[in-house]
Amino acid sequence: MQAITRVAELRHALAEARKEGKRVGLVPTMGYLHEGHLALVQASRTRSDITVLSIFVNPTQFGPNEDLSTYPRDFIRDEQLCRNAGVAILFAPDAREVYPTTFETFVEPGDLAMPLCGAYRPGHFRGVATVVCKLFNMVQPDLAFFGQKDFQQCAVVRRMTVDLDLPVNIVTIPTVREPDGLAMSSRNRYLSEEGRRRAVTISRGLLAAADKFRSGERDVEKLIAIAKEQLNRVDRVQYLELVDAHTLKAAESPLQRPAALCAAAYVGSTRLIDNVILSLPTPDGKRSLGD
Ligand code: PAF
Repeated sequence: MQAITRVAELRHALAEARKEGKRVGLVPTMGYLHEGHLALVQASRTRSDITVLSIFVNPTQFGPNEDLSTYPRDFIRDEQLCRNAGVAILFAPDAREVYPTTFETFVEPGDLAMPLCGAYRPGHFRGVATVVCKLFNMVQPDLAFFGQKDFQQCAVVRRMTVDLDLPVNIVTIPTVREPDGLAMSSRNRYLSEEGRRRAVTISRGLLAAADKFRSGERDVEKLIAIAKEQLNRVDRVQYLELVDAHTLKAAESPLQRPAALCAAAYVGSTRLIDNVILSLPTPDGKRSLGD
């Protein structure tokens, strides 16, 4: 595995592979890797010849009162995990490499960035879209892999690639969960033991609603109420919304199109997000969103 910090070096390392017609897969991350990231690497390895994993804690997607300075970092451990997982190139640029002092151009996402997290984290998706666009230009991957846990991020990135004609296929991988259901997240490490026990009520609520959906419930209010009932051990639910999976606008009863039940909640000062996709099985028995 090569660990690279400079864009020029990255381009040089990938030029040879590209000449040989190899498919490049990109797994963009902010580090502090967990099983969810490793599932993205695994998916990339099965679909690409070369997997590039980027680690960059992107300052432009954090608000002024958010956890940029305390975001968990452990490069040595991440490097070892990447090596073991079969990553070919670990790209870990520093902030000046990505945002030189003269930097002033951003990607501004549209309506998909407005609801859910976008309503509570102004500028967040502008920062995400900008850095992902830059990473796509730096790596020029054939495929890029994102986790469904960041459902809205996937929607924003997918739309950006279409709107800006970026020649990248976006692949979304199902959320990886702890055995009790809690969605894997680098931020889980902020939780105390007691907080961790309460955090699981987020996934419990969402998964209970998904169960009801599977057994035929199609009423939006009822599905939200089922999730809400379980979500009572967090300190604050920031949002719990059932949205159309494609437009992210409020879903209508009875559900007839793929929808996503999305939640953001605080356990102590830790903000966690999770979601479940509620979609009718397609004729071949799959429940995908048409990825
Ligand atoms: O999901 C993340 O870790 C980040 O938002 C991403 C996609 C790496 C952009 O900074």
